[in-house]
Amino acid sequence: MADNNPNVVGKGFDRITVVYDAVVCISSFNRINKSQLAFLSHLSTQKMGLILGGGTGYFLQKVLDKNEQIHITYVDASAKMIEYARKRIKKNRPNALHRVTFICSGVEDLEWQNYDLIVCNYILDLFDNAYVQVLAEKFKKHLTTKGLLYVTDFHIAETNGFMKWGTQTGLKVLYTLFRWTTQLQTKQLPETERLLKEQRFVITQSEYFLNGILACHLYKRTD
Ligand SMILES: C[S@@+](CC[C@H](N)C(=O)[O-])C[C@H]1O[C@@H](n2cnc3c(N)ncnc32)[C@H](O)[C@@H]1O
Repeated sequence: MADNNPNVVGKGFDRITVVYDAVVCISSFNRINKSQLAFLSHLSTQKMGLILGGGTGYFLQKVLDKNEQIHITYVDASAKMIEYARKRIKKNRPNALHRVTFICSGVEDLEWQNYDLIVCNYILDLFDNAYVQVLAEKFKKHLTTKGLLYVTDFHIAETNGFMKWGTQTGLKVLYTLFRWTTQLQTKQLPETERLLKEQRFVITQSEYFLNGILACHLYKRTD
């Protein structure tokens, strides 16, 4: 298991909070943000949401805009990211602030409740297979039977070729940058789809961005 300490990684993300949105926007032609919105239209009816590693609050605001009743537990290991997200909602959706519980903590230390929406946008890629398996088991236990698991992340093409090589090389560079800036120890993408499938989650919808390098998947439980 990659030896990530959420406190250390959280402090690392503190250092990049103020530039995070700009870097993400420029480096991906804003596709990292756009990819997360692929199935936003499916999020208007849920009541209890959990957003893991939510960052600066871009997606949080979109969900609050879309859904007038949802209460969201918003978890991030970085105190600065949490503060940034809170300020964003206070400024842009002040009437919805009371519907968000901000928790500055590693996912590892979360006290789980039950949810009808769990969101993991560009967070599972920070963990290795062993920990994504732990999370997949948590999702199975704490997502309601008809709940939605919303996952956006990097995606490596299955067939060999330039795209696969290019994505793997790009991800190596990205993980190295994250190691320098946040002390993240993870070196490769976890096999999220396989691990979720093992917990009897199925993909009901998928959309791909940037020539398939980014993917947004909606999962449902089948048990
Ligand atoms: C790559 S950013 C993604 C942010 C946001 N979801 C997005 O898509 O823009 C990862 C976020 O996860 C947080 N994070 C990293 N490790 C974490 C952990 N173990 N538990 C909770 N949050 C974590 C970081 O502080 C950061 O805000």
